[in-house]
Amino acid sequence: MKKTIIVTGGAGFIGSNFIFYMLKKYPNYRVACLDKLTYAGNLSTLASVINNENFRFVKEDICNREAVFSLFEAEKPDIVVNFAAESHVDRSIENPSVFLQTNIIGTATLMDACRKYGIKRFHQVSTDEVYGDLPLDRPDLFFTEQTPIHTSSPYSSSKASADLLALAYYRTYGLAVSVSRCSNNYGPYHFPEKLIPLMIANALNDKPLPVYGKGENVRDWLYVEDHCKAIDLIIHKGKAGEVYNIGGHNEMRNIDIVKIICRELGKPESLITYVADRKGHDMRYAIDPTKIHSELGWLPETKFEDGIKKTIQWYLDNREWWETIISGEYKDYYEKMYGNR
Ligand code: NAD
Ligand code: DAU
Repeated sequence: MKKTIIVTGGAGFIGSNFIFYMLKKYPNYRVACLDKLTYAGNLSTLASVINNENFRFVKEDICNREAVFSLFEAEKPDIVVNFAAESHVDRSIENPSVFLQTNIIGTATLMDACRKYGIKRFHQVSTDEVYGDLPLDRPDLFFTEQTPIHTSSPYSSSKASADLLALAYYRTYGLAVSVSRCSNNYGPYHFPEKLIPLMIANALNDKPLPVYGKGENVRDWLYVEDHCKAIDLIIHKGKAGEVYNIGGHNEMRNIDIVKIICRELGKPESLITYVADRKGHDMRYAIDPTKIHSELGWLPETKFEDGIKKTIQWYLDNREWWETIISGEYKDYYEKMYGNR
């Protein structure tokens, strides 16, 4: 059946991968991407679909009520998937206010439009960071959907606020909302301020590899396409009013990831430089994906050993994409964050 989906934040990392996945899998779906093109959004990322007759790009802010409502009026979407967000923890520590604006007010604005236009599903793309962190000496503990919200950074607090609002819109207004909380993604089009692409780009340029603290913090890495497949299942088969955790039991210490990148690129580990830790740095994230596996049959398909090789190869094959980014305003960001660290 023909469906229209509005995807917000589709010029960013996960949103773009989701658009590619959906347009390929559902040739009869129409996808309208709403993105403000902040520093993290890049229209060139969408070059391969921009002329697809089932695709439309609209440059707008999800906080702009009038623009959001007129897009809904024009598109009459069946489903809305909200990826649009300020997503980088370090930036949220420097400047929280834009995180509150986009991540909370923007989400509420989209849901108000969903109510007015009778949208059949609003899906909020959230994060495992809303659960706070786990201790390193308790490998038996995992985040389940029942784990209490316990945030550490302005970023995770803004995402948790949006989750709570989304669930409130379900209970109060009966809006068909679903929420997914995913672990760390990696793959193509990942913005080079984040650990994996930053280390690949720096290593390729023989620059220091800045590891925060002792590098012992643990993240649960998932190949981006596995995240996209999980969201596809949730919006089609998941229940409204429910939260689904997404993660693949792939816990790795930061330092081990950086060493793998050095090895794969044939670069010396002497590039690794330990720098001042992130304020309030979460120690360990680890998802229990039992619910999405047992209810929707989702399992991650890409093993880390394969996913990281594919990702590194993508950065080797697409140097222009990331070199354009790191030669622009990113240079000021890098100097500010790492210059005196
Ligand atoms: P990203 O920073 O790469 O992309 C964010 C996109 O949102 C950009 O295209 C940007 O231009 C757009 N955007 C920002 N503010 C906007 C606004 N006010 N209006 C319209 N568009 C706006 O982020 P990402 O890593 O792709 O993350 C996407 C979503 O997934 C976020 O909600 C994030 O919290 C969540 N998430 C990310 C990860 C991860 O590992 N990257 C893991 C779990 C959840
Ligand atoms: O868990 C999901 C979250 O994963 C998402 O909600 C966020 O949007 C996404 O950015 C990511 O957050 P993290 O803070 O875990 O990702 P980041 O890539 O910034 O950092 C990963 C780990 O690497 C973290 O422990 C900090 C560390 N790090 C990061 C950078 C950028 C370094 O040691 N050095 C660095 O230069």
